[in-house]
Amino acid sequence: MIATELTKRLGIKHPIQCGTMQWLSRAELVGPVAEAGALACIASAINPDPAALSEEIAKTRAITSRPFGVNVSLFPSLSANDIGKLIAAVAESGVGILETAGQSPEPYRAQIKEAGLFHIHKCARIRDALKAQSLGVDAISVVGVECGGHPGEAGLGSIVLIPQVVGAVDRPVIGGGGFCDGRTLAAGLALGAQCVNMGTRFILTKECPGHPDLKKFYLTSTAADTMLIMGSLKNTGRVLRTAWSEEVDRLEKEGAGLETLAPYISGQLARQGWADGGKEKGLYYAGQVVERCGDLPSVAELIGRIVAEAQEVIKGLAQD
Ligand SMILES: Cc1cc2nc3c(=O)[nH]c(=O)nc-3n(C[C@H](O)[C@H](O)[C@H](O)COP(=O)(O)O)c2cc1C
Repeated sequence: MIATELTKRLGIKHPIQCGTMQWLSRAELVGPVAEAGALACIASAINPDPAALSEEIAKTRAITSRPFGVNVSLFPSLSANDIGKLIAAVAESGVGILETAGQSPEPYRAQIKEAGLFHIHKCARIRDALKAQSLGVDAISVVGVECGGHPGEAGLGSIVLIPQVVGAVDRPVIGGGGFCDGRTLAAGLALGAQCVNMGTRFILTKECPGHPDLKKFYLTSTAADTMLIMGSLKNTGRVLRTAWSEEVDRLEKEGAGLETLAPYISGQLARQGWADGGKEKGLYYAGQVVERCGDLPSVAELIGRIVAEAQEVIKGLAQD
């Protein structure tokens, strides 16, 4: 076992987080990850309805009695009122771990603290990490530019950003962007992270509730098949190259603003694709590490082999 201060505080066995993924981080994935001893959070962005979130929490609890969390997205698509209600639903459910991401959690810090939730805030810049610390969050999660999803605007790779943040804050750091196996887990721990966040890797697991055709698309994609878009909106995202994402890129280069781009970048569009396997519409987020995720193990197999490989790597490095 590889224990860290953070794994002990969260009550998890392994310093691995399955990165929260819209449409995918549902009970079917979060339950098995928690059961295998790692951290996963239900993506509340799936449904801003607190009753539906409570149902998803109950479904997850039916799969595992181990700790798991809920991710509340602070991207501006939800109103402050909705976010407050979601946080209240998390607190009422008894789930003790809340992850926020997207924007500063400042407006919700008092509510989160009052509810006694363990608060992880995910960001992509040292400035935002320091701000989160000043607000009193319990742990800071940072992602480098390699990551799937939103790597922020600073463009720093994980190997630069993670030790920078670890050196600047006085609380546990979760590092993400480019992690997928035992070697990268060991590297993340060496950089000072107390847990690593792997998103793209967990898409390619048996339990991930994405359509098999889309999983095949990910399985055969390389780092060069990912692209950064939405930088013009200061909301950079790393996605797989499709006719749809190329069109977003083209519109941005033509100077299109939010009004024109909004119908192309709505997170709702990918919902259909993850359900039916079509990728004609919507954006399919993926990290550069997609190139290194070449199989489809079960969640338990994946976590077991990552930990075993990391232990071997660490042992090998410790030898004279
Ligand atoms: C398909 C997909 C969807 C994602 N959706 C979200 C999301 O809804 N909220 C969030 O905070 N992060 C989201 N992310 C980012 C992940 O939680 C994680 O930070 C990232 O995948 C880590 O980098 P990696 O892909 O290199 O492992 C998403 C990533 C992917 C690949």
